[in-house]
Amino acid sequence: MFFGGDYNPEQWPEEVHAEDVALMRRAGVNLVTVGVFAWSHLEPAEGEYDFAWLDRVLDRLHDGGIRVALATPTASPPPWFTLAHPEALPVTADGVRLTHGSRDTYCVSAPAYRAAARRIAGELGRRYARHPALAMWHVHNEYGTDCRCDRTAAAFRAWLRERHGDLDALNESWTTAFWSQRYSDWAQIMPPRATQYLPNPAQVLDFRRFLSDELLGAYREQRDRLRGFNPDVPITTNFVQGGWVSVDHARWASEVDVVAVDHYPDTADGGAEEETAFAADLARGWGGGSWLLMETAPNLIYTRGRMHAKEPGRLTRHSLAYVARGSRGALYFQWRQPRGGAELFHSALVPHAGPDSPVFREAVGLGRTLRALGPEVAALDPPDARIAITWDAPSWWALQGAGLPSADIDYLAAVRQVHRTLFRAGLQTDFVFPGADLRAASLSDAGHPADRPAGRPADHSSGLPADLPVSRAGGDLSRYRLVVVPHLYLLDDAAAAVFRDFVAAGGHLVVSYLSGIAEPDTRIRLGGYPGALRDLLGVRVVEWHPQPPDVPIALSGGYLASGWAERVETAGAETVVRYGSGILAGAPAITRNRHGAGSAWYVSTALTGDALRDLLTRVAAEAGVAPVLDGRPDGVEAVRRGPLLFLFNHGPAAVVVPLPGTASDAVTGRELDRSVTVRDGGAVVVRLPG
Ligand code: GLA
Repeated sequence: MFFGGDYNPEQWPEEVHAEDVALMRRAGVNLVTVGVFAWSHLEPAEGEYDFAWLDRVLDRLHDGGIRVALATPTASPPPWFTLAHPEALPVTADGVRLTHGSRDTYCVSAPAYRAAARRIAGELGRRYARHPALAMWHVHNEYGTDCRCDRTAAAFRAWLRERHGDLDALNESWTTAFWSQRYSDWAQIMPPRATQYLPNPAQVLDFRRFLSDELLGAYREQRDRLRGFNPDVPITTNFVQGGWVSVDHARWASEVDVVAVDHYPDTADGGAEEETAFAADLARGWGGGSWLLMETAPNLIYTRGRMHAKEPGRLTRHSLAYVARGSRGALYFQWRQPRGGAELFHSALVPHAGPDSPVFREAVGLGRTLRALGPEVAALDPPDARIAITWDAPSWWALQGAGLPSADIDYLAAVRQVHRTLFRAGLQTDFVFPGADLRAASLSDAGHPADRPAGRPADHSSGLPADLPVSRAGGDLSRYRLVVVPHLYLLDDAAAAVFRDFVAAGGHLVVSYLSGIAEPDTRIRLGGYPGALRDLLGVRVVEWHPQPPDVPIALSGGYLASGWAERVETAGAETVVRYGSGILAGAPAITRNRHGAGSAWYVSTALTGDALRDLLTRVAAEAGVAPVLDGRPDGVEAVRRGPLLFLFNHGPAAVVVPLPGTASDAVTGRELDRSVTVRDGGAVVVRLPG
């Protein structure tokens, strides 16, 4: 179980380094990420290297028994580089060429940048690939940088040729007959740039896919170079989520040896635990059961215009929640709070106040807990979920576009609402990735991590340590009883067939509006919505009725919705809930279709909290899926991993949690007689009997 975080010794004089290692040992830190932004220190001038300081840092850490995730510093090229290669600076959609002065200021398609990145990665590989402190390579930082320059345009065209073959196919796929956009030469095609009115949605989506692949190409170059120096060292990069990030992590996941994720819940008060569970469950899906929290904030987080301190206990509670949901540790940004620089007030394990501080004291306690639990938890299967939610980055990107029927469409919010509803009901969920870019073949051969022997990767070929499973995104639906499909806008026939087979075999499927609408290239599937899933759902939607988000829509049974309504015609499905008023009064709102041994539900409106809860808990019960723990008090999160039950009390008062029999506290060994008290804001790990 890893515990530690980003360590930036280049920001500090060497006297501080000795104190760092002593404090790390006191806290039980066993892994630090070194060198993420150290390029200008490692290569002060082109081709001139200074590794002496890094040698001393790594040796000192090794002497202290602390291992290193050694980063390649390529997210932040030094000033000398950008002055020598101005063409490698990124250009915005408005045509502004940025200059250095921050980070992530490069064009990933610029040959000079790519060459410089390969070179510094190669130098680090040559020097440190067999250093005893090296635990893994941490390539780059949070891939996602965007550029729209002429070189990017050329790379985009090359990518488009691969994807579409010829211009006729591209013109067809992009519907360029609309607004006279027909291309007669590849050279006419541009990345999406500032233009007069709405851009072409297919062009915008293809550009985001291109960028994901282009960044992946840059990652692979470094990875392969590093691998050449020592094939046994795992290699990763830290994934970051965000609507602006054009990286399809489900596609990237098989390219890293362990999925590493940065996560900064931006809810200062209640609700951060729901964000944490969501991010962790999603990361576990990418990672095929196991992943690593590479960064989170130890204390103050910036949200709604100010920094908020975490109350005592939150660092521990949330860190253990990531671990319960499959993270192989808890790492933070950052070890020591800097004296200057752009993030000078960002929180750290060692804050400006020094180690005599609440955050460092809490970290010491957390380190102890992780040491006590680590070996056992690391060997356990992931949480055993029988419910899956679909996640599809291209659908998210397509639904961020202009020209959609409502400005309130929000893919992320829709997926999070489903996850939150199941979380609050105490139902464990996985994520699966059956979207347009993952074909049925990759779904069926991926295999669920829980079906693999613990700690053994599915297709491990690089001689990695057996305790770091190879990541593998996918989604074999056969182990699930219920699959929820929110806003899966893009869907091809192969993925639709996966759902059909799942239901035919007895699965329960709940599909929301805005699913199955378009082909992967954004062309609409004709004949009525939800195109690709119409037959399976036994409905045909002939009209959308987008609504204002703040006006309730009455439904039968006293339920409410808002924001969206549709005219649904049933074609085999039974109507379970109807619209209650307005021009759709009496028309179907929620339907169920029996198909084979299972059932397929269609939800044509945006259900508010209670309505969605009642629907999902009803279908879960029909599917035979039970909550993780019976009698779980409100505000308590329960995660089960084999014999261990993780309990988190996110509420303001201590609670007594009933246990199924005599158990023990997995950290202290204390015996627990059929119940355990969890203090407000606290976490307890229980070893269950038998
Ligand atoms: C990201 C980066 C870090 C730091 C943090 C701040 O995750 O990787 O370098 O900027 O955000 O929260």
